[in-house]
Amino acid sequence: MALFKRSSSTPQAVPAHVAIIMDGNGRWAQKRGLPRTAGHAAGAETFRTIATYCKNIGMQYLTVYAFSTENWKRSETEIAAIMGLLEKYLVEALQKMAKDRVKIAFFGDLTPLSPRLRALCEQVTEVSQNYEGVQVNICLNYGGRDEILRAARAYAAKCAAGAADPQALDEAAFSDLLFSARIPDPDLIIRPSGELRTSNFLLWQSAYAEYYFTDVLWPDFTPAELDRAIAAYNGRSRRFGGVK
Ligand code: FPP
Repeated sequence: MALFKRSSSTPQAVPAHVAIIMDGNGRWAQKRGLPRTAGHAAGAETFRTIATYCKNIGMQYLTVYAFSTENWKRSETEIAAIMGLLEKYLVEALQKMAKDRVKIAFFGDLTPLSPRLRALCEQVTEVSQNYEGVQVNICLNYGGRDEILRAARAYAAKCAAGAADPQALDEAAFSDLLFSARIPDPDLIIRPSGELRTSNFLLWQSAYAEYYFTDVLWPDFTPAELDRAIAAYNGRSRRFGGVK
């Protein structure tokens, strides 16, 4: 665990990998009489603030759920707004990348995205691959079940081609077939907005994650709220199925 010193109220130990379901944008906008897209714009600002904070406190990995395989059911206007916000963020990220040194990666199948957004994702991944600041994993057209199915298909294809043995597949080898290959499982998964579901997020990787739920809506989420989540995490006893 990385150690950081900020103030007496902030937690001392930072989990290596925190994952966040950025939920509540729509309700945040509704409460203010604004269109849902305004909630996503505010949510994108919160994401910027939290990603910067995670870098400053020495977190190694931050994974955020930006767009799920199920989110295509939303209106065209809402989908276009979310994709537009992602594009805007990636263009900005490219401009200040050399200074920020944040590594960006994507979990999900990027093929249905617009050619422009896909090209930006590829460019950002490539340019930032050796940066050593926090690694931000953006889940985009991501679903936990979809990820597991893809890995199963990939291994089955190898077996069918005679290049792998079904009996040789173990948890480590399976993990290496996921979008999160070579990244440690999340220690802490945060879901704001009061919903108590995992919503197809990191199904395999969350096996021993600690969950933190809060009623705060994502656009209202602050570094202080993240500190509270980390403090709660630090108060838990992680046994990974064993006894302490
Ligand atoms: C869930 O809230 C949020 C989303 C499906 C979109 C998240 C997208 C962003 C924060 C903007 C782009 C991201 C980046 C990384 C720049 P909801 O719409 O389901 O909220 P509700 O449950 O209140 O309706």
